[in-house]
Amino acid sequence: MATATATFAGPVAEAAGAVRHQITLTVNGERRTVRVENRVSLLDWLREQAGLTGAKKGCNEGACGACTVLIDGQRMNACLTFLVQCAGREVTTVEGLAAKDGKLHPVQQAFIDHDAFQCGYCTPGQVISAVACIQEGHATDEATVREWMSGNLCRCSAYPQITAAVLDAAQRMRRT
Ligand code: FES
Ligand code: FES
Repeated sequence: MATATATFAGPVAEAAGAVRHQITLTVNGERRTVRVENRVSLLDWLREQAGLTGAKKGCNEGACGACTVLIDGQRMNACLTFLVQCAGREVTTVEGLAAKDGKLHPVQQAFIDHDAFQCGYCTPGQVISAVACIQEGHATDEATVREWMSGNLCRCSAYPQITAAVLDAAQRMRRT
């Protein structure tokens, strides 16, 4: 009896004849040189090749914010960013926020202190987005935080706690 073998061809599996580029980027402070097809998203590369699964794949079309990372300090949807666009740029994922000695970033600590998550699926994106929201000067009051965090959906509806955490983290960061 003939047997069939199936090969998994995930989003970053190499296609025959595909155009590849070699690029160098910095991820969480570490320089990496990679050879990659044009079509590979930053999100797929992070999760499937770089071993960084913090950024989550929710919608994969820019609607939920679960994949949010910082690129040169700006929050971006990794699902809508091709890896080749990151050549020469600095990418920060949630794994890169804590200090080298393990001390959590003030936003991470505030999320814990305010119980700002339930299932946690959206949390890495919320935390990264909150870091940028604070750095942008948008963590001034509840309504402003809600507006500037509106690209990050939480299906558990932990919005009151998330908003409180962002405002608290902003205060903590102003004191340091
Ligand atoms: S997975 Fe990127 S915005 Fe939803
Ligand atoms: S904590 Fe579950 S989706 Fe936000």
